[in-house]
Amino acid sequence: MADASPPSIGSGSRHAEVLDLSRPNAARVFGALLGGKDAYNSDRYIADKLLANNSFRVAVAEARAFKLRAVEHLVGNHGVTQIVELGCGYPNEPTVHAVACRQNRIARTLYIDHDPLVAVHARALLSGANSVFVDADLIDTTDTVERIAEVMDASSPMVVCLSGTAEFLPDAPAIVAALISRLPADTWLLVTHTAADLCVRDIDSAVTTLAAAGISYCPRDRDQVEEMLAPLRLLEPGLVTADLWRPDLEVGNPENGSGVWLKPTVCSYAAVGQLAWCSQAPRPGCSAVDPTSDRGLHPSSRKGV
Ligand SMILES: C[S@@+](CC[C@H](N)C(=O)[O-])C[C@H]1O[C@@H](n2cnc3c(N)ncnc32)[C@H](O)[C@@H]1O
Repeated sequence: MADASPPSIGSGSRHAEVLDLSRPNAARVFGALLGGKDAYNSDRYIADKLLANNSFRVAVAEARAFKLRAVEHLVGNHGVTQIVELGCGYPNEPTVHAVACRQNRIARTLYIDHDPLVAVHARALLSGANSVFVDADLIDTTDTVERIAEVMDASSPMVVCLSGTAEFLPDAPAIVAALISRLPADTWLLVTHTAADLCVRDIDSAVTTLAAAGISYCPRDRDQVEEMLAPLRLLEPGLVTADLWRPDLEVGNPENGSGVWLKPTVCSYAAVGQLAWCSQAPRPGCSAVDPTSDRGLHPSSRKGV
């Protein structure tokens, strides 16, 4: 996409503003990292620097691949038909709703993002019979939960995707706790998070590149990611690097054109968990999770990496 005069985002958005396209933007930079075409020159400059950082490039690609595998698994094997993606970014193929619908044609996906240009693209490309976009700021957890309730059936479990987004949230553990405590019983959360304690030099370098572009990005270490997952009972194989989470599933193969990945240690954590409060404090509509059942729930989030 060529540089152009700054467009103004008006009536269709809850975040009306004039866009400054000379400044890199997180959604467009990360879209470009995944092969998206919606970046302007300022974004492309930063994306190219990050693409040259092999550890970071692989972490982002593996996180996205994990997300698609996890959605496929949860819709296909656990009967969930409602998916919510928090911080969806620019539309990217294959989309979450396409992967979900391949498993169950009635599956519906709600995409959420606070970026006004993402909103324009997502409304155009991610809205259809099985998908819808709403703009919301995840930091406002009350508003976000209300927006979810407007679109989804609050009496049925959901799959909530938080992939590649928690790094932009200053107090992600608190936001996650506030959101998931108000979602339906048996809801699943899938999380990826760039690691602060793996490939440390390369990840630090990526953070510095992003900070110089005015983009605040916060990798977290294993303990911090575990803290975020604390309310959840994790599915096998627990908290692992993204490439190790059920790599045999069909979608989400991040191989490049030549079929070769020069894969360093994958510096992105990934896990899928289910809200565990049901088994501790049963509520109406809440089916208790039996920790001894064969649903593949992981007894400890420690195993796996
Ligand atoms: C790296 S992209 C993630 C894209 C996508 N989830 C994926 O798996 O490819 C992060 C997205 O989170 C969005 N985001 C960051 N902070 C947010 C907030 N407070 N509320 C809503 N969206 C946010 C950004 O606009 C961006 O589109």
